[in-house]
Amino acid sequence: MNDTGSATPPPGLATPFRVDRLVDRFGRVHTDLRVSVTDRCTLRCTYCMPLDAAFKPRGELLTFDEFVRVVAVAAGLGIRSVRVTGGEPLLRPGLPELIARLVALPGIGEVALTTNGLLLESQAAGLRAAGLHRLNVSLDALDDETFRRIARADGLDRVLAGLGAAREAGFTGIRVNAVSIRGITEAQAVPLARFCSREGFHLRFIEFMPLDAESAWSGAQVLTGQEVRRILEADLGPLEPAPSADPGQPAVDWRFADGSLVGFIDPVSHPFCDRCDRLRLTADGQLRNCLFSTSEWDARALLRAGGENLDDRLSRLLLDCTAAKHAAHGIGAPGFERPARAMYQIGG
Ligand code: 5AD
Ligand code: SF4
Repeated sequence: MNDTGSATPPPGLATPFRVDRLVDRFGRVHTDLRVSVTDRCTLRCTYCMPLDAAFKPRGELLTFDEFVRVVAVAAGLGIRSVRVTGGEPLLRPGLPELIARLVALPGIGEVALTTNGLLLESQAAGLRAAGLHRLNVSLDALDDETFRRIARADGLDRVLAGLGAAREAGFTGIRVNAVSIRGITEAQAVPLARFCSREGFHLRFIEFMPLDAESAWSGAQVLTGQEVRRILEADLGPLEPAPSADPGQPAVDWRFADGSLVGFIDPVSHPFCDRCDRLRLTADGQLRNCLFSTSEWDARALLRAGGENLDDRLSRLLLDCTAAKHAAHGIGAPGFERPARAMYQIGG
């Protein structure tokens, strides 16, 4: 561990403290920050937001300067990768400018973006020029009817056009995230696997988590990664576990006989909380230590109050948020409490 990142303790703190890493009570070191830049979206996916979602007024969202300030402080505490999310981040005007500023921050080695892809066709080249390193595109279904049933809007053609444009803009290792929902997505698994293997996208299936806005989630709707693997194997042949290139990644890769890979993110059937290295910043400036946290730490209030030693106070907030992190999300355990905010208000 290096000692160089120590910050000055804020005034009023009795004991000087050494601050250089975001380590929680369980020894987990936090190096990844998810930053949501808007709660708005062009879709209304059932697992993420209500049909009649109410969005935050613009003035309550952090400005680019405010996002950059928090991320710069976080980088001083060991955050190395930033993922920009939403809502739909491409709805935030001028996003490439924010990406370029995040890429330029000392200590930040990777800036990635998760998008629903609808606006990607026109924006891919600009994002690439801004220095964005990686792209994840959410795509749960390859037939219009199922797409519409989940997203409650049209857009499949635009997502496909967006994926093509991203590849043409020079992005490599593009990931496609597909949420699996029992009774809805079973028939999508094989077409998605064929499509991604043919087009060179890295497909990952994600289990449905209780983060929808309408409290419709039930354990019975979770189509597990293992079940999706069985569906794939029935049509496409056996899958074998593939060694992970990055053990910090929640996705576990499996390999078909032809060498193509498919990933599984199984937060419900196989929680990966013990390896979690993530913190989150919501579009309205609240720090969270988990998708499922029931508390938030208010960075916006600090930013807008201004004053002396703001960076030190932001550091303290990040450390407090990290220190309060629970061992695990506890989905399915007795006493599990859903967060008050839904996915679109938290950021994926
Ligand atoms: N369960 C699982 N995945 C979800 N996502 C959004 N809401 C949920 C949920 N309730 C996914 C999106 C996107 C990523 C950010 O998270 O599809 O790919
Ligand atoms: Fe929009 Fe993504 Fe939420 Fe779907 S999951 S409504 S695409 S933010």
